Amino acid sequence: MRAPIRILSEDVSNKIAAGEVIERPASIVKELVENAIDAGARRIRVEVRGGGKELIRVVDDGSGVPADEAHLVFMRHATSKIATASDLFHISTLGFRGEALPSIASVARVEFLTRTPDADDGILLKVEGQAIASSPCGAPVGTQVTVTDLFYNTPARFKFLKSDTTERRFIADVLTAIALAHPGIAFRLVMEGREVLNTPGSGNLKETLGAVYGRRILPGLVPVDGLAPWGGVSGYVGKPDLAKGNRSAETVFVNGRWVQNRMLYAAIERGYESLLAHRRFPLAVVHITIDPSLVDVNVHPAKTEIRFRDESDVFRTVMKAVRSALLQADLVSPLGQPQGSGPAGRPDKAPVDDAALQPKLAWSFPPLGKGGSAAKRAPEEPSAPVWAGEERGTYTLRPQPTGMADRALHPVEAVGAQEEEDRAHSPGEPPPHASLPLAASEAERARVAMEQGSVAHGYDPRELLATAEVAGQLAATYLLVPVPFGLWLIDQHVAHERVLYEKALDRWEQSQVVAQQLLTPYTLRLSPALAATLMDHLDAIEAMGFGVEPFGGNDFLLRAVPPEVTGRPEPVLTQIVEELALIVSEGGPSRKERAAAALACRAAIKAGERLQPEVMRQLIRELATVENPYACPHGRPIIVQVDLKEIERRFGRS
Ligand SMILES: Nc1ncnc2c1ncn2[C@@H]1O[C@H](COP(=O)(O)OP(=O)(O)OP(=O)(O)O)[C@@H](O)[C@H]1O
Ligand SMILES: [Mg+2]
Repeated sequence: MRAPIRILSEDVSNKIAAGEVIERPASIVKELVENAIDAGARRIRVEVRGGGKELIRVVDDGSGVPADEAHLVFMRHATSKIATASDLFHISTLGFRGEALPSIASVARVEFLTRTPDADDGILLKVEGQAIASSPCGAPVGTQVTVTDLFYNTPARFKFLKSDTTERRFIADVLTAIALAHPGIAFRLVMEGREVLNTPGSGNLKETLGAVYGRRILPGLVPVDGLAPWGGVSGYVGKPDLAKGNRSAETVFVNGRWVQNRMLYAAIERGYESLLAHRRFPLAVVHITIDPSLVDVNVHPAKTEIRFRDESDVFRTVMKAVRSALLQADLVSPLGQPQGSGPAGRPDKAPVDDAALQPKLAWSFPPLGKGGSAAKRAPEEPSAPVWAGEERGTYTLRPQPTGMADRALHPVEAVGAQEEEDRAHSPGEPPPHASLPLAASEAERARVAMEQGSVAHGYDPRELLATAEVAGQLAATYLLVPVPFGLWLIDQHVAHERVLYEKALDRWEQSQVVAQQLLTPYTLRLSPALAATLMDHLDAIEAMGFGVEPFGGNDFLLRAVPPEVTGRPEPVLTQIVEELALIVSEGGPSRKERAAAALACRAAIKAGERLQPEVMRQLIRELATVENPYACPHGRPIIVQVDLKEIERRFGRS
């Protein structure tokens, strides 16, 4: 039988609203911190326990709520921020819906302690379900909200929460973004007793970025500045070598509100054009100021979505601002160890021409220089082999000086140590990046194809690798190995990656920890979210051979490294942690495989690196010993075979 129509009780409608506003602990942190910002706080402290499921406390030094209004804060649609519907069209506060606190109170226990500057005493409200108890209470000026036992009364929703680790990561991401939106406010985040974020509140965005991502990124930041009739774009974008494997460092604000908007991400990324490799995302903090009447923030209860009246105009302005910032910045970073360097300590880079893009053959030793013929090589060029991740020149690509506007940026000359392997490949080709999925089946296909090819000729491919000589290097990337039935082209990066990957996995499986103590430890600063990931996987990271010690906040001291790591260890470890962070969101292969693949990818010889004959020889000998010499951990082939028959056919001999 049909039930009569009724008006839902306040409790039920609050729970419905909570379903949209309060998805997880991070949503509570966001709402409470936004309330503190709206209250004019200069210092905001957030404390989290049990991934936020047990406790979230936000303390601010803002205006507080007068005792006679306090009973309203937990009432639905009670807000001090707007009064009339027309106010909705020029909202300047973060909150306006008047439903965050009642929503939170409908799914958790809440205590709200507040005092205004002119009151002698504060007031404490304790809310549990429908019951609100209030009492006068001594308190500092400002507000302290404590939320405990999230979803205690809605167990079905509790089940949807992820592990504490993941929830902590969401919280760190939210607070990082909010802190970057408000450099004038000092934020402190303490999770499980550990301080993971502390910003100075000096009003300086660059300083805040340094506090969040570590001071080492500061030289890589490029200021963005763009004007439009409706407002403007400002902030910082990172040079390409600060790019990440996901969008976690791409933060966008519209009128101080953190928004997640595909159009804006796309505009920023388009600004980089081909400066970034496939699946690499920039570090960017972009503030958009726009006449509030041209945006609608009342699109979704969580208020992280936004609608623009003229999307394409905003897109163009953001893209152009990012692009012109990158063009004006000198995108060539100084060399760590100058190779063929000019007087200014920079590499002698001939203007990039199309010929430089052509692969160059080197049939005799020593191999040709990257930029042209052997004769062009500087006589003092060091001849020592550059092996696995040694400190080497960190080039980044330089955009062409002219004709930029209508031409794609060419990722030509080599490339930052971190991006090297990605950029040395043409844009259409999958880069050998560690965060590609591990592809067992493709590896298997490559194995079968290679084995069939060699076996058909009566040879064991492994034996060939163990005895063959390397005739030269093509395009400083492929080893040329003549075999009795043709020619093998071996990709030096993926070959080495495979060798390192198997070694690391082997050691790990046999629980052999091989750690090389560093003479001087390195310090490593991670973002709050990555620092939390590192702590969660510390056992695994130590099992790989890293000696890591927490060094306060998000800093770590690196005292030992696995034997594969011969250059600077921080980028390697950072990549491994980024990779481990992805396991939670993407699932897929085990953390052992992921971590080993990340280690191998970062530590392996790069494409575009000239190698000495001995080094090339050693590489194919090692390749002969691995279990799968046919494909890298991500499924890309290691060896490509050119049949003698095919060569003969081309020469008209058959
Ligand atoms: N930290 C705080 N300091 C001062 N006043 C606060 C604080 N938190 C909440 N308030 C008061 O309580 C009211 C209700 O807060 P609540 O978050 O529920 O709604 P809102 O912020 O107005 O809108 P929204 O639902 O969009 O967040 C606010 O309008 C504000 O007046
Ligand atoms: Mg609010």
